[in-house]
Amino acid sequence: MFAEGIRRWNEQPVTELGARPTSAATYADFSVRGSLRQLLHLARAPHARNAAALLREVEISETRLAERLGQTELVGLSILEIGPGQSMERAQFFGRRNVVTAIDLDEIVDGFDPAGYRRMRRSNGWGRMIKTLGRNVLISPRQRRAWKAELGVDRVTPPIRVRGDFCDANVRDVVPGFGAFDIVMSWSVFEHLRDPRTAVQSVVDALAPGGVFLLSIHNYTANDGHHDIRAFSGGLDALPPWGHLRDSTKSEIHPSAYLNEWRLQDWQSLFEELTPGAVVQLDSYEHPERFGPLLDGSLAVELGAFSREELLTVDIVVTWRKPLVD
Ligand SMILES: C[S@@+](CC[C@H](N)C(=O)[O-])C[C@H]1O[C@@H](n2cnc3c(N)ncnc32)[C@H](O)[C@@H]1O
Repeated sequence: MFAEGIRRWNEQPVTELGARPTSAATYADFSVRGSLRQLLHLARAPHARNAAALLREVEISETRLAERLGQTELVGLSILEIGPGQSMERAQFFGRRNVVTAIDLDEIVDGFDPAGYRRMRRSNGWGRMIKTLGRNVLISPRQRRAWKAELGVDRVTPPIRVRGDFCDANVRDVVPGFGAFDIVMSWSVFEHLRDPRTAVQSVVDALAPGGVFLLSIHNYTANDGHHDIRAFSGGLDALPPWGHLRDSTKSEIHPSAYLNEWRLQDWQSLFEELTPGAVVQLDSYEHPERFGPLLDGSLAVELGAFSREELLTVDIVVTWRKPLVD
């Protein structure tokens, strides 16, 4: 997970994806308290440093995608991002030289839009509305400046956006260019999906022959895989390590979002079945050095049902190239 940052939805009308999703109107539970906590954390965040870290991370993804496509650079491509969130940095990064479409379940509101905030309050609750309003007024301008400075641009190109549930069967009828994308990409979304199998199949169907996907999945069995909001607002070290996986500490952890709780093996089996030849990379960042030693003592016994690898993997990154002919 990287710091949420710049929000810059475009002015184009948003396509609503058929009927309201039946499974969920939002993927997360934005309590007022949790949202205020996150706002405070964001207000104190070192925006320039976060933007630089995000850029490094996006460039790694760009390299992985280019390698999979067999190209040296990604230019003039048609790209779909699933779940870009309130911030749009990755879509903006790739949008500098490609055409990016983005689909998200959540209501997105930017700028002065009272009706949009009312819709957001109705579908996502007060907490989400307060968080978005606060961020738009207090934080986004600084984040935007930092991101644009990192990209070396004066203005960013926003994606074409679609609002809806990527697991919905109508998705192919509503996303423009479905079946013809050169790239489908997503970060920290698939762990929130109620129907990952349908979603992965739709990713495959969204691609043109020879197209490539990169799906980065925040690993449920990581130390912070529980999505307790405190872990993402400066409080990770105060939480019991791997608290959500231990009987003795489960009650202390409060996930702030729906999680399908899929484990590494579940993802591996699904991709082997639907996308044979997919490459699965396990990104650990600094976790083995920081948290690995904790696993040498009694914690290892309590977490005996989990391998060290799945406990120290933060992101499961899967890339695959669709065959040119079926
Ligand atoms: C944890 S956020 C990640 C945002 C961004 N990709 C990032 O890495 O910062 C998950 C995003 O996925 C979106 N999402 C969750 N379920 C979805 C679904 N079924 N279809 C489309 N978007 C979904 C949420 O609305 C949210 O914007």
